[in-house]
Amino acid sequence: MKPARRPLLGALAAAALLSFLLILDPPGGLLVLFPSSLVRSSPYAHRPKLLFLLAGQSNMAGRGALPASLPPPYATHPRILRLSAARRWVAASPPLHADIDTHKTCGLGPAMPFAHRVLSSVSADSAPSSVSDPGAASDDDPLVLGLVPCAVGGTRIWMWARGQPLYEAAVVRTRAAVADGGGTLGAVLWFQGESDTIEMDDARSYGGKMERLVADLRADLGLPNLLVIQVGLASGEGNYTDIVREAQKNINLPNVILVDAMGLPLRDDQLHLSTEAQLQLGDMLAQAYLEFNSSRERRL
Ligand SMILES: *[C@@H]1O[C@H](CO)[C@@H](O)[C@H](O)[C@H]1NC(C)=O
Ligand SMILES: *[C@@H]1O[C@H](CO)[C@@H](O)[C@H](O)[C@H]1NC(C)=O
Repeated sequence: MKPARRPLLGALAAAALLSFLLILDPPGGLLVLFPSSLVRSSPYAHRPKLLFLLAGQSNMAGRGALPASLPPPYATHPRILRLSAARRWVAASPPLHADIDTHKTCGLGPAMPFAHRVLSSVSADSAPSSVSDPGAASDDDPLVLGLVPCAVGGTRIWMWARGQPLYEAAVVRTRAAVADGGGTLGAVLWFQGESDTIEMDDARSYGGKMERLVADLRADLGLPNLLVIQVGLASGEGNYTDIVREAQKNINLPNVILVDAMGLPLRDDQLHLSTEAQLQLGDMLAQAYLEFNSSRERRL
């Protein structure tokens, strides 16, 4: 008998269980452990997915008003999944950040229309005769999209620096999404900077901090060519929006592209994109992604 060892073994077992819970795509058995999380997991949960990290602040999390009946690009689709806060793959349905950006009421963002557009482009390519039913893939290996929401409203870019909780959570969630054949990361969709327009120092240091963030993410995810699609600010909380927009345009790194939201309709607060604007932005982001993907293939 070596009773002194038992606390250590107990701690090891607890740590093993915890890392299992944190790292693995939890099996259905967890419903027994956490009866409150009765979210339906998807039949595509264990398929390799094309993954997109959604990061930034409120306009990525989504503040577009929820209309009585959702526009079709916000409809759930069996092959559009979302990594929940508990790191389960569930059918994506808006608001995608409801369990991530928990301090504010989330609305509609750009990621659902983005995902629908990417999915339909591939379905249209592979089955041009079935345009009437683009979602029905007869392939053995249909494209499955996995959205990894990480955006939090009101955040400044320094809060996304390596070592800060938001950055570390985004890395951990993305690693969990990729692990065990979970899929490949297609791009980071980044919509942030409105809060960095209040203080001159924040605005002036935005470009350097963004370049650092991209470099750190690429290093920590082991993806040196990772595509980052920034959304050019449509609004700001302060007077230095132009400085941040200039910084966004001048990011001096390969595979960082800009989709400009300036001019899209805003809500009455003059800060948040309307639902109509988010629909357009989702489409613009998808076009940018698809163009990048096809030009990359041409270069290979
Ligand atoms: C922007 O500038 C105006 C005019 O100088 C000033 O009154 C206002 O407080 C400024 N806004 C912020 C958020 O600093
Ligand atoms: C990316 O490009 C490749 C090669 O052209 C194509 O097979 C694939 O379907 C594209 N992916 C998407 C999501 O469009």
